[in-house]
Amino acid sequence: MTESFSTRLNNAMALRELKQIDFVRAAEKFNIKLGKSHMSQYVSGKNVPRADIAHFLAAYLHVNEDWLMGADVPMEEHAANLPEPSDEPLQHDDATTEQSTEGKKTMRTFTKSHKLDNVLYDVRGPVADEAARMEAAGTHILKLNIGNPAPFGFRTPDEVVYDMSQQLPDTEGYSPSKGLFSARKAIMQYAQLKNIPNVSIDDIYTGNGVSELINLSLSALLDNGDEVLVPSPDYPLWTACVNLAGGTAVHYICDEDSEWYPDIDDMRSKITDKTKAIVIINPNNPTGALYPKEVLQQIVDLAREHQLMIFSDEIYDRLVMDGLEHVSIASLAPDLFCVTFSGLSKSHMIAGWRVGWMVLSGNKRLAKDYIEGLNMLANMRMCSNVPAQSVVQTALGGHQSVKDYLVPGGRIYDQRELVYNMLNDIPGITAVKPKAAFYIFPKIDVKKFNIHSDEQFALDLLHDKHILISHGGAFNWHEPDHFRVVYLPRISMLKETIGEIGDFFSTYWQA
Ligand SMILES: Cc1ncc(COP(=O)(O)O)c(C=O)c1O
Repeated sequence: MTESFSTRLNNAMALRELKQIDFVRAAEKFNIKLGKSHMSQYVSGKNVPRADIAHFLAAYLHVNEDWLMGADVPMEEHAANLPEPSDEPLQHDDATTEQSTEGKKTMRTFTKSHKLDNVLYDVRGPVADEAARMEAAGTHILKLNIGNPAPFGFRTPDEVVYDMSQQLPDTEGYSPSKGLFSARKAIMQYAQLKNIPNVSIDDIYTGNGVSELINLSLSALLDNGDEVLVPSPDYPLWTACVNLAGGTAVHYICDEDSEWYPDIDDMRSKITDKTKAIVIINPNNPTGALYPKEVLQQIVDLAREHQLMIFSDEIYDRLVMDGLEHVSIASLAPDLFCVTFSGLSKSHMIAGWRVGWMVLSGNKRLAKDYIEGLNMLANMRMCSNVPAQSVVQTALGGHQSVKDYLVPGGRIYDQRELVYNMLNDIPGITAVKPKAAFYIFPKIDVKKFNIHSDEQFALDLLHDKHILISHGGAFNWHEPDHFRVVYLPRISMLKETIGEIGDFFSTYWQA
């Protein structure tokens, strides 16, 4: 089994007795742009370097560059060499040059955009990469990391599949950029049922999943330096897309001691004159929380006081348990401008078909110009997948078979009970009971296990038990004391896996 880049970097640094700052200083001498934050991202495994930086790191460590990047080759054989120190000023060009093996010709290499410097999406990051490497080497991995229902036997309702097949021949062309009339009409009626005010058919945009629309809605809004309040923990696409659009994601805390509800005082304290919007994720990924009306009302009051837009990600709105009811925050804010996101990936278990939508509501006059921007971007991507749109009407109407999963005897309900009880029975682990979705975000007593890196914990669990979970840091949670479990697998597999996690913690002491 091969180690990850960050493990190898850390090992080689320890061997050569080098600190992060040594690399930063040395890089300056060689005219290489390498900041402290880059170094710390490499060391923590949050990012891997571009080719030119990897070459420099390997040369400075005097190790084989391929070995450093994770290849199965000896560490010191053909160790990379440092170029001559340079007196030239630092280059800020995106295209960098590297010496060819003959040392004569310089080769242009292509690096990723600096716009991605602050973008992290660790749910599919280094730990998942390591799991993929292990799988490729023949190890069976138990996966509790991705909210993708189909592989766990959650099937799309037959009627939805049938209707897609019937409509396939009629969905070959582009649709209007916001989507098919029938799909948008059904979404509009759904918005009416949720009491979302002032929604016409023009206020509905379909997308290739909510993911596309998160990106689109933030790209249309943000100028460099604009701030958006995003929850911590969050579904990390929100933070990533705010930063990619040039904005700054400012995290407000969701409070584990209050059922993981947003901490309103913390939210208030983070508002500045650059804040444009508040993002809420309700029901929440990764905590499984469902926000009651009183909490939503306080967020609306805050948005009203500071004239902020509200983005509400409600993709799990139909996956609610314990007889509770989901309230759309937009229904409480007719005088504010709100954008509500949902789709069929989770409630209808068709994540692969990529069906999402967003609904503009409330006081749209406040956002006339922004809506022009949304329309431009929606037009530029032509339209979302048309065969997938053709089933929205079927999916949203009639019997909602997903409800059967959410009551005692139903898979999601029973799996939640099992996971919640088994995790809380592990000494050193506590978890708030999720009310919705299919995630739980347990807390680890870090002192008991000497945990200082949650990512290292995730890697250790992966190596030791072949179980893949997501560490809290992947959700922009800034303490190393949480992890997320997806409880979609069947009871028998969950029993075995959580049992193994308990066994792991019975002896774990982080090095
Ligand atoms: C909170 C949240 N929003 C959005 C998405 C993306 O959904 P989609 O499949 O519609 O792109 C996910 C997926 O896990 C999610 O958890």
